[in-house]
Amino acid sequence: MLGKLFRLALVLAIVGAPLFWWLTRPGDIAAAELAGLSGDAARGERVFHAGGCAGCHAAPGAEDEARLVLAGGHRFETPFGTFLAPNISPDPEHGIGGWSLADLARAMRRGV
Ligand code: HEC
Repeated sequence: MLGKLFRLALVLAIVGAPLFWWLTRPGDIAAAELAGLSGDAARGERVFHAGGCAGCHAAPGAEDEARLVLAGGHRFETPFGTFLAPNISPDPEHGIGGWSLADLARAMRRGV
């Protein structure tokens, strides 16, 4: 009886794990979704202020203009572990300056 239950659980895990991964996978952003973007910096600035990006992504202790650098480093202690706000400055090596538009869209809209 226990052996049967174990086998059933094993089969469910083998079938269920890939199914769970497939059902919860983050989809890609279709190129057509990005085609209509105008590159309007004023809209980006509104999103930046509305989203409070600097609140988390500014370096701890940064003030005034330095808050706009978005060097990251703020730590969030949570019951799940510590999250670290990453550097999202335009620096291609340390920030996200090397990202494509699709990379950014995937991060902002799919969390990947
Ligand atoms: C409440 C704090 C908070 C706010 C507000 C916030 N972020 Fe974040 N952001 C984070 C954290 C923490 C991470 C890292 C998440 C992780 O480790 O999975 C992150 C990750 C990112 C990443 C991925 C960077 C990488 O290297 O993977 C981007 C891009 C990003 N944020 C952009 C933004 C933008 C743009 C805004 C404003 C619209 C914003 N964030 C607002 C906390 C925040």
